[in-house]
Amino acid sequence: MVWSGVACDSAAVEHQNPNIEPRWNMSTDPDRAEPLHIVVLGDVHGRLHLAWSLVKRIEAHYRIKVAHVLQVGDLGFWPRPAEVLDRATRRHAAKDPEEISFPEWSQPDRRWGGTRLSPRAEALLAPAAPRGTRVDADLIFIKGNHDDWERLPGLTSGGLPSPVDHYERHRFLPNGGTMRLGDGEGILVGALGGLEHGDPARDGFSNAEAEALAGRRLDLLLTHEPPPRTPPGSRLRRVVESTSPRFVLSGHLHWHERDLWGEVEFVTLSDVRLNERGEVNAGCAGILTWRGVGVPSFEVLGDDFAGAFPGRSILVYPGDDALAATR
Ligand SMILES: [Fe+2]
Repeated sequence: MVWSGVACDSAAVEHQNPNIEPRWNMSTDPDRAEPLHIVVLGDVHGRLHLAWSLVKRIEAHYRIKVAHVLQVGDLGFWPRPAEVLDRATRRHAAKDPEEISFPEWSQPDRRWGGTRLSPRAEALLAPAAPRGTRVDADLIFIKGNHDDWERLPGLTSGGLPSPVDHYERHRFLPNGGTMRLGDGEGILVGALGGLEHGDPARDGFSNAEAEALAGRRLDLLLTHEPPPRTPPGSRLRRVVESTSPRFVLSGHLHWHERDLWGEVEFVTLSDVRLNERGEVNAGCAGILTWRGVGVPSFEVLGDDFAGAFPGRSILVYPGDDALAATR
């Protein structure tokens, strides 16, 4: 299946969804403005408990309110893993069931009364959850090369980014799509997920999707594959050249690196996981801060943040292991 025309028409795909506006009043006056804080996550591969816990801990640790979470593909969007799952994910899931935990974070189940998510997902995502565990930001993700390629193309209803779950907390921004975050002009974000040499119907992107972004003046470009790691003249590099974003944020490699080409800064984020000490993997996330004027800043989480939460203490809701064992 290929993308429908809507994702290939830049005029049609740009949409300012009122539901994704920050939850407080932004002003372009830097003396009055509450900064806009956006957390960006590397590959999650289904580790949504850790991903959402990480956002909660970032808010407490830095005393900030996160407005949005952006994710650069390989979220682990497998809404029906028993039916559609790629071979690599099936192999990893045999050792780590978190790889296929997306249904638990998106679909009510009769184990939880038929109207609720699992207890840990409720604690972090439910509108009625206690403030001490709840995250209010939404998570906007792009296509990776390990996500449900059959379901993603249909997720363009209800405006972009399109909600894919019960509480509308996970939203998909399709290839060629753009969105604005923040008040007024805000920050214009574009998406081109998948791989340069992938199959557009499975793990790549099409020429039309890449061309939908051409010439847009982007502030942020989200790609799954880092453009500097593609050959000169690649479609990813050409999109960067024609959109001149301030930041290009990517994942896929499962390590962190940073590069500056002229005024374009490339940041590749590592994967969201716990290391052997039970600390979150440094380099897997960053915080973009924008004060309503000028260019945003982007700081990547390092060892100091990771070391502040030793021994899996970054996880917000206890009992996760017991829950995983019941699946
Ligand atoms: Fe990937």
